[in-house]
Amino acid sequence: MSVNKVMVIGAGQMGSGIAQVFAQAGFEVKLNDIADESLNKGYARIEKLLSRNVEKERMTEQEKESALKQISTTTKLEDASDCDLVIEAVVENMDVKTKVFKQLDDITPKHAILATNTSSLPITDIAAVTNRPSQVIGMHFMNPVPVMKLVEIIRAIQTSDETYQLIEETTKKLNKNPVEVNDYPGFVSNRVLMPMINEAIYTVYEGVAEPEAVDEVMKLGMNHPMGPLQLADFIGLDTCLYIMEILHEGFGDSKYRPCPLLRKYVSAGWLGKKSGRGFYVYE
Ligand code: CAA
Ligand code: NAD
Repeated sequence: MSVNKVMVIGAGQMGSGIAQVFAQAGFEVKLNDIADESLNKGYARIEKLLSRNVEKERMTEQEKESALKQISTTTKLEDASDCDLVIEAVVENMDVKTKVFKQLDDITPKHAILATNTSSLPITDIAAVTNRPSQVIGMHFMNPVPVMKLVEIIRAIQTSDETYQLIEETTKKLNKNPVEVNDYPGFVSNRVLMPMINEAIYTVYEGVAEPEAVDEVMKLGMNHPMGPLQLADFIGLDTCLYIMEILHEGFGDSKYRPCPLLRKYVSAGWLGKKSGRGFYVYE
């Protein structure tokens, strides 16, 4: 089997980036969202980033137009009925994701692979709600998708070798680097990254330093491209809190307890860049 037609579900910051990289690699892509407004925003974001590539002479106007032609938008999940691969990138909520996977299991052809871009939810549990668990896999893109080279490919306990190999090959066609990991809380990426971000928040909570100082230490001292608090704002503080809760619950170890300041910010609706305020204020 080979992958030709792809549906990306959720046209937010991750889904629109995933649709863009598939279209640039020549795949036919259907971008789906429940909300027309999100679809329009997602498509506009893709157009803007492709135009930026033309400005920077990384692609021609013609290449931009042909990438855009590969993408159609739809609010109907039923349009996945002829897709070989579906990548789900909706909100990080188990109930929403399992509902989408159950529907996809009924709609998509028998051969289709169902992938999730979840940051932290157990792929094994998502696979278990379908009648094709061996064809369910984690395809974890990094933010911002068009720039970051990694795709963490997460095998659920049920994922077959055939499914893994096809997703690995497909990732390479996107000019990304696949890394194989197994399904445990936070996988590798967020098990290592999130405790660092959480600890950075503790240093602010305990008055060790101001957010700017914490970020300067990590940028200038450790050569990180963004400080941990700037990165937390970029990812979304709600997503960071959610991932810490999954680590805390999944391992039952107090070393993963989310910082109370992170909880407070999320309760206040200070979710980072997307809400205009997090550790920093955004225009
Ligand atoms: N979308 C698309 N492209 C973007 C972008 C975005 N949101 N932000 C920046 N870029 C592009 C810029 O357009 C720029 O390209 P050109 O100027 O050549 O067109 C290029 O990236 C570099 O940007 P800047 O020069 O403005 O800034 P920078 O050098 O600091 O790079 C960055 C920006 C690539 C985002 C860099 O700061 C970085 O690597 N930050 C860390 C990102 C990271 O750690 N991501 C992983 C998050 S964790 C995750 O994703 C997993 C999870 O489950 C939560
Ligand atoms: P987002 O809030 O920007 O986008 C989510 C989109 O899903 C929204 O447009 C929303 O309208 C849509 N949606 C919600 N329910 C839907 C449904 N039932 N059907 C179709 N569309 C639906 O979120 P995001 O940051 O793009 O995150 C999406 C997923 O990617 C999450 O699972 C998240 O954990 C994961 N992820 C996020 C990051 C990050 O840095 N933000 C990095 C890697 C992975």
